[in-house]
Amino acid sequence: MKLYINGQRKIGTRDSMIYGHFIEHFHRQIYGGVYDPDNPLSDEDGLRMDVLEAMRKIKVPILRWPGGCFVSSYHWKDAVGDNRRPFFDKAWRVEEPNSFGTDEYIRLCRKIGCEPYICANAGTGTAEEMSDWVEYCNLEYEGRYAKWRIANGCPKPYKVKYWSVGNENYGFWEIGAKSAEEWSRLVAESSKMIKHVDPDTELTAAALTDLDWNIKLLKSSAQFLDWISIHEYWDGIHQTNDYADYEAVMAYTNQTEHSIAEVRGLLTAMKLDKKIKIAFDEWNLRGWYHPNVHTVEQGRTKKDYLYPRDKNDDNSKYTMADAVFTACFLNVLNRNCDIVGMANFAPIVNTRGCIYTYKEGIVLRSTYHVFDLYVNYMGDVVLDSWCGDMEMMCVRNKVGEPEETAVLDIVATAFSGQAGYAVAVVNKSEAEAKKLEINLETSGDVRMYYISGESTESYNDIDREEIAIECEELGTYIPGMEITLKPHMVGVIQIGV
Ligand code: AHR
Repeated sequence: MKLYINGQRKIGTRDSMIYGHFIEHFHRQIYGGVYDPDNPLSDEDGLRMDVLEAMRKIKVPILRWPGGCFVSSYHWKDAVGDNRRPFFDKAWRVEEPNSFGTDEYIRLCRKIGCEPYICANAGTGTAEEMSDWVEYCNLEYEGRYAKWRIANGCPKPYKVKYWSVGNENYGFWEIGAKSAEEWSRLVAESSKMIKHVDPDTELTAAALTDLDWNIKLLKSSAQFLDWISIHEYWDGIHQTNDYADYEAVMAYTNQTEHSIAEVRGLLTAMKLDKKIKIAFDEWNLRGWYHPNVHTVEQGRTKKDYLYPRDKNDDNSKYTMADAVFTACFLNVLNRNCDIVGMANFAPIVNTRGCIYTYKEGIVLRSTYHVFDLYVNYMGDVVLDSWCGDMEMMCVRNKVGEPEETAVLDIVATAFSGQAGYAVAVVNKSEAEAKKLEINLETSGDVRMYYISGESTESYNDIDREEIAIECEELGTYIPGMEITLKPHMVGVIQIGV
């Protein structure tokens, strides 16, 4: 196959926030995940130092918190100051101790070096409660909530720039679900109040690829919004935990762009595509396993709805299928960097996250290394590239139907601050190496950084590392140079870097 790269034609410069992450008060993401005060591996703030280091290595640019469904009955005032009040989290049907709240979260973001991004309660919450939260975080001293922050030992405002009105309030499963009419009114009033507190905030609101919902939302609130939020989990196994196999996951790579295309079309039609960007602020190949909660009939015993959540911790399930899919989706975000300004992998720690914690350490799952490759080896200027003779392969999707999909998934980039090029190449073939001829007017040394594993089922676990970034020196670049791509491989080819 022949790849042509036009080093002069820029698609755009991607925002580093497309490599963002999400962490929710669910299962072991916070408690026993990043926040583990009794663990000797934790620092003076109770934060796991090994987790912080791993987050810093992939340069987490933004961290969305505290939910997700959790937030839709969460009251932030119960989780700041001296008198933390535990509450029954009706979203996940567990007691939330509230020992990790806004101040702890901000300390976490400062230690990672990332932007905070707070999703506010538009389920049982009010416009006033949401805007009070912004007062607490962003006002110098005016009013009761800034003074409360100061009394809690934080004299300077946190200046949280990114805020979301609500989570998935369109869904029947969400506490405080809303109709499109109710939603558009609530978002308008909440956004107005938040902007009155701090006009420098950038606001988003939950949306989906439903025209009626989005048209009503944008008609009522576009003047206040800077972003529109969409979510997607392709292998939706939250009720069944029946993982799509490698071949079915490759079929899912045919569905990675439709949500962006549909929302882009609507924003363009409403002449909002220059004002509002897409925040793909929850995404992952696999839905989280939490049976009998996102259902009308709730689980009656903890065996029905709570204990099964531990099955998200099975590291053997996070294989090269997850890595290949994740790279294909990051390629989509790069190719759409003109309209997608943020994306948040859901989540970062435990559940389906790229970092798994256990008492004595962490496991970096396959997807972690994909973020490492894209954040630390790819450029930020996305270039026009095409492969005229792309091979197709036939795979069976999860319901057994045959689908065709391109064997390779490629994005070419340059660097805004230095010479050289970096090309992300994904070989989706389960068993076949592929040869790729690269045509680009440039020179310099060629190195390929990649992960592939011995098989599609390779995975990392405690005392088991089957997937790690390897480097292949490929000599001096000459136009038309042919490079061999291993099967089920995610790689970044650097030229002249
Ligand atoms: O499965 C986790 C949930 O997925 C998040 O809490 C919610 O935002 C989405 O429905």
